[in-house]
Amino acid sequence: MDPKEDDRRLLNAALAILAGLLLLKLLSTALTRRRPSNRLRSPPTVKAWPPLIGGLLKFVKGPILMVREEYERLGSVFTVGLANKRVTFLIGPEVSAHFFKAPEAEMSQQEVYQFNVPTFGPGVVFDVDYSVRQEQFRFFTEALRVNKLRSYVDQMVFEAEDHFSKWGESGEVDLKYELEHLIILTASRCLLGREVRDKLFADVSALFHDLDNGMLPISVIFPYLPIPAHRRRDKARKKLAQIFSDIISSRKQAGKSEDDMLQSFIESKYKDGRPTTEEEVTGLLIAALFAGQHTSSITSTWTGAYLFRERQYLSNVVEEQKLLMKKHGDKIDHDVLSEMDTLYRSIKEALRLHPPLIMLLRSSHNDFTVKTRDGIEYDIPKGNIIATSPAFANRLPYIYKDPDRYDPDRFSPGRDEDKVAGPFSYISFGGGRHGCLGEPFAYLQIKAIWSHLLRNFEFELISPFPEIDWNAMVVGVKGKVMVRYQRRKLVID
Ligand code: HEM
Repeated sequence: MDPKEDDRRLLNAALAILAGLLLLKLLSTALTRRRPSNRLRSPPTVKAWPPLIGGLLKFVKGPILMVREEYERLGSVFTVGLANKRVTFLIGPEVSAHFFKAPEAEMSQQEVYQFNVPTFGPGVVFDVDYSVRQEQFRFFTEALRVNKLRSYVDQMVFEAEDHFSKWGESGEVDLKYELEHLIILTASRCLLGREVRDKLFADVSALFHDLDNGMLPISVIFPYLPIPAHRRRDKARKKLAQIFSDIISSRKQAGKSEDDMLQSFIESKYKDGRPTTEEEVTGLLIAALFAGQHTSSITSTWTGAYLFRERQYLSNVVEEQKLLMKKHGDKIDHDVLSEMDTLYRSIKEALRLHPPLIMLLRSSHNDFTVKTRDGIEYDIPKGNIIATSPAFANRLPYIYKDPDRYDPDRFSPGRDEDKVAGPFSYISFGGGRHGCLGEPFAYLQIKAIWSHLLRNFEFELISPFPEIDWNAMVVGVKGKVMVRYQRRKLVID
């Protein structure tokens, strides 16, 4: 063979290998440029103008609007600069699991919920270390156990019957006002106790009103700002402490025990045997009322508004009442309420569309990583505020079919849309480590009210379907919800 021919072949082979390597390099550079890396990286940041305060302005203008826009643009994980803080949003069950499950040392509530301290008072909940707070949450759990709930239900039913017995044969009422009022009456009896409900209701509700009005959006950032609303709040808090101190002393002196949350808190003991102080009992009761009152009355109102608009679902809940009346007669107690699955789903669906707590917050104390549905990993630095939004996450279209539609049947066995994407698909009550402790209480209370109404009245919504009041701290219904009612006793066919 010609040696020159050999050299040429060798040269050609070398050139082919070199060209191949070059091509591979070019291809890999092009591919890595086009495809986002699946490796760790910082979440995208919301672009806002002017710098420093642009993010804050966007947020204040409408937090859910901002989340909607940025979710479209940036995906399920993004960071927004709010003045001197960086807030990272985690939207959807895939990325929010750590938010709900992480221990307090990594993901804490204390800093972000500090604004509650002047309202709840000293020595309770967000004013104490997590170890004490955990014990206080144990007191809540004990006060809301099934045996306690059974006796609360009797009081809920009594209050509903008493309240609606004052309505005429027919008439027009603002459903929102009526339900708010009834729920505060019921909460007074079950939580604050007989003394408040029977003798001090007007005084105590006026004081709670001042506490309520002292919690403004500005209070979240400056809870101690010397404004009239805060001064009224502080005065009301002091007077409430005095009222409860008197009630607690007189119960102790008389050796009286009652079936209410107040009694349960009086009898609660820390692990080291220390009993609760009067100041702590007052603070825990205020916290319970703040956690459960607006949230429950708003949910009751949305449930009514949807049922009166979507008549097929109204027929379904009425049919369920008939079946239960066939089985149990007129009796309504804890166990009968627990059988009201159709009503339960109707309430749950109103609450999916309108969670009163639209934004849940934590402060992150560790770096952590989240992985999106597309497999992209983001590294989130410690020190950021972490937020998730029930109002947005509850309407994700890859979890809920036709997500803006009121469709209680989506929770029926077989569909179970709230479970398809794991435990954090439905977060109206939060979830994980800090999931709502009052959820069973809230459902029992709303079911007690609606079963009474469905069995005794016919309704028609006469004002336009309500809008959302985004300006409220606990997001509810805007304006009045006028209904026309007619008394009619439900008869079993
Ligand atoms: C429809 C009614 C209610 C709704 C929508 C609701 C919603 C919530 C949500 C979203 C959380 C979690 C907050 C977070 O993760 O930052 C929560 C926590 C809590 N809720 Fe409720 N709630 C309701 C009724 C009640 C009632 C009636 C009570 C008590 C009587 C109550 C007591 C609590 C307590 C003590 C916590 C704190 C749990 C913890 O941090 O470990 N809630 N609630």
